[in-house]
Amino acid sequence: MKIAVVGATGLVGGVMLEVLEERGFGKEEVLVAASAKSVGRKIRFAGRELTVQSVEDVIAAKPQFAIFSAGASTSKRYAPLFAAVGTTVIDNSSAWRMDEGVPLVVPEINMSAVRARTGHSVSSGQGMIIANPNCSTIQMVLALSGLQRRYGIRRIVVSTYQSVTGTGMKAIRQLEAEERGEEPEEMAYPCPVHRNLFPHGGDFMEDLYTTEEHKLVDETRKIFDDATIQVSATVARVPVVGGHSESVNVELKEEFDLEEVRRIISETEGCVLYDNPEKLEYPTPLLSHHRDEVFVGRVRRDPSQPKTLNMWVVADNLRKGAATNAIEIMERLVLSALNA
Ligand code: A2P
Repeated sequence: MKIAVVGATGLVGGVMLEVLEERGFGKEEVLVAASAKSVGRKIRFAGRELTVQSVEDVIAAKPQFAIFSAGASTSKRYAPLFAAVGTTVIDNSSAWRMDEGVPLVVPEINMSAVRARTGHSVSSGQGMIIANPNCSTIQMVLALSGLQRRYGIRRIVVSTYQSVTGTGMKAIRQLEAEERGEEPEEMAYPCPVHRNLFPHGGDFMEDLYTTEEHKLVDETRKIFDDATIQVSATVARVPVVGGHSESVNVELKEEFDLEEVRRIISETEGCVLYDNPEKLEYPTPLLSHHRDEVFVGRVRRDPSQPKTLNMWVVADNLRKGAATNAIEIMERLVLSALNA
């Protein structure tokens, strides 16, 4: 199999290579692409050296899969060119997520969206584009997916506490420079992030919400295939390296039993219920670091309103929030093509 990683020199691209190796793709032909300035650079992968190529050269090699994490404009430009040569693109940017004909997939929830939205399967040999959701959306919908199936969700109020790794290398460099008391060479954010936090992710829109907040609303509805779910989101950036946290308040359509809710979350594929207040155990970004699971804790009834729960959801945004989710989509497609 030939697999391309576009944006391989970036933060998520590096984790994609790590996850590919961990999950047994080390013997496959892996092609790595980045911007023109990185062409010729060497990258270690599975005990060998890969040479960074231009995106055009990698398209010419016609890989079966191209996993993208190189920003929305790169995806807009190149994903269709890959699809045109028969490649299945799994894109981590926001470029295609809300496109009607593009499935937006969390594999544990909605693999069926691939055929439903593209009209064909991978084994057909036709290229296609599949979108990987935003990191904050992935962990929230996975934590809620069992509850959506069992009770139905009416409304979600979510506040995020997002790690700087979600903004890429330059955000880590800003935080580290500030920690050393130095002036950052480049500011990834409009204000300091060390010993600070700010209620802002992405760009502000006319309605006073940000693009990151809109993603939580729109992507949740698309993944659950339910436009009636109400979502109210506030995104904040915190000086954490690795791991997004979310306070999630969810109103269900039916009355629930708290023990059943806990059981459902603990049985949700990809989720770990880590909720032992008597031992002061709850999920933290450090706990989630380098792990593929979504951790859920502080599960409790909201006394201010019926049928409503509060919970705290944490995941490594570079893994389940990005690289792992994309590679799991690819794994499931490979498996279904083998079984076809
Ligand atoms: P490069 O390192 O050559 O700039 P991050 O989000 O961590 O900053 O990573 C972004 C990734 O996207 C990097 O691998 C970067 O490559 C890649 N990238 C940025 N612009 C382009 C482009 N026009 N074509 C291909 N890859 C790009």
